[in-house]
Amino acid sequence: MRERVLSGMRPSGKLHLGHLHGALLNWAELQKNFDCFYFVADWHAMTTEYANTGNIKQDSFDMVVDWLSVGLDPKKSTIFVQSELPEHAELHLLLSMITPLSWLERCPTYKEQLREIKTRDIHTYGFLGYPVLQAADILIYKANKVPVGEDQLPHLELTREIARRFNSFYGKILTEPKAILTKSSKTPGSDGRKMSKSYNNCIYLSDTPEDISKKISSYITDPARIHPTDKGHPDICPIFALHKIYSENVKEIEDLCKKGEIGCVKCKKMLAEKIIKSLEPVHKKQKELKKNPAVINDILKNGREKAGKFAAQTISEVKKAVKLINSD
Ligand code: TRP
Ligand code: SF4
Repeated sequence: MRERVLSGMRPSGKLHLGHLHGALLNWAELQKNFDCFYFVADWHAMTTEYANTGNIKQDSFDMVVDWLSVGLDPKKSTIFVQSELPEHAELHLLLSMITPLSWLERCPTYKEQLREIKTRDIHTYGFLGYPVLQAADILIYKANKVPVGEDQLPHLELTREIARRFNSFYGKILTEPKAILTKSSKTPGSDGRKMSKSYNNCIYLSDTPEDISKKISSYITDPARIHPTDKGHPDICPIFALHKIYSENVKEIEDLCKKGEIGCVKCKKMLAEKIIKSLEPVHKKQKELKKNPAVINDILKNGREKAGKFAAQTISEVKKAVKLINSD
């Protein structure tokens, strides 16, 4: 039996290079050695977007198109939409009974978001319970491993604590998952900050070659380089950070930049070519999928059926354990 991997992503519409290097390539790689479950966390999106839910469905669809176009393979992985599996909600409810408020209130992501999100009121019951829903997502499939970025580690730890507490009350039913920390190959956006839709600094997986060239040429670089012969500091340049991902001759570029022997225009052009080339197969797949959207619906339907079997099994064990139904 292969170990089970599970991860989810909130539906953010079309995806960008940050998603690709921060999560998706790793997800695709894990398909080789694990039984993988990947899902659209649309209920999680509602914890912040409850007043504006009109885009969630389309964003989910667009996100799944991008998942498939970068190599998530429905023959290897179970791909589905969270809200189509009511068992997640049912387990979330049962877990909420045993989760102390203090565990949620001290969660660093919770405190940070309360401070940062100013455009929506997230002083809600649902938002406080975000990590309980995430715990339900994971525990309902008895996942062994969960690939996540560093920011999600507290949620994973909370999931483990909730599982332990459940098991201590009702018997050993739930599996404590382990995190697989995605090593963060930094993917800076055009302003040098982390690539993010809300910063408007992204290169999308669906950007045309022209878009990509334009966006790369608009990137900030080392401000010390006014003339192509000025000596540069590649380590502070976002273009260089991307070369580290996309180019084989990184050392050469580093030396040329440091010695002032390459101009930023040329350096960016080299990078743009590499990115464009690497996205060619992705674009081909995106085109095919968009021509035939029924394929996506089929994949999600199969995913729901497959995931549903596991979810139903766990929920039944859980209900017996908490004595809401008689054990046989
Ligand atoms: N909270 C995760 C994020 O924002 C998304 C998510 C929801 C998730 N449920 C999950 C990730 C279960 C891993 C496992 O990235
Ligand atoms: Fe950045 Fe390249 Fe310009 Fe150096 S030459 S500052 S690495 S864009």
